[in-house]
Amino acid sequence: MPAVARVSDFPVDRQFLDRWSPRAFSPEPLTRAQVQTVLEAARWAPSSFNEQPWLFVFAQSAADLAKFRPLLMDQNRVWADQAPVLVLIFARRHFAHNGKANRHYMFDAGAAWMSLALQARSLGLYAHAMGGFHQDKAYETLGVPADRYEALCAVAIGRYGDAGGLPPALAEKESPGPRKALAEIAHEGGYRAQ
Ligand SMILES: Cc1cc2nc3c(=O)[nH]c(=O)nc-3n(C[C@H](O)[C@H](O)[C@H](O)COP(=O)(O)O)c2cc1C
Repeated sequence: MPAVARVSDFPVDRQFLDRWSPRAFSPEPLTRAQVQTVLEAARWAPSSFNEQPWLFVFAQSAADLAKFRPLLMDQNRVWADQAPVLVLIFARRHFAHNGKANRHYMFDAGAAWMSLALQARSLGLYAHAMGGFHQDKAYETLGVPADRYEALCAVAIGRYGDAGGLPPALAEKESPGPRKALAEIAHEGGYRAQ
């Protein structure tokens, strides 16, 4: 596992710095209990009207992984094909209770994704989100109704592997990403033009 050198400007719980998005996944399978625990954490995310609009369609058997991998774009397959678990995150666009458009479905699914990612880290695993997947193929291959759900993101989950196995261009990028300064993204009292 790489040394994570992230340092925050203000003190935060270590879990926020220790979560990052590696590409060097180990193919070692996860247990069913590990996968259920990671998904269970997502289940407890907050949502508008407690609608829980998220839907996680996941693969961990060899047969399911073979079905899910072609849903990823090639630039992600290069590394994500090694991951022992793939998840496709969908969310319902309309409220179940009144059929009206739910403006917050993506916000809510985003919260659930972060719970999943943090739970993965607390099990010693990593989760890496991927917007680079074939949306149309995802509905078709997984049988999810496109008129009700939106395919939002794919996620690879697994243990850290061998960065030496990555193509050189990706091996160079294999480190936790930086962040903007807090003052740039948090404006006290009102918007402050940059
Ligand atoms: C919605 C979303 C889509 C992303 N899509 C991709 C992707 O297709 N391929 C990829 O390698 N990383 C992808 N990432 C990972 C981001 O590049 C990464 O989270 C960002 O650079 C911050 O780095 P960190 O997660 O290591 O802190 C995505 C992340 C999110 C949240």
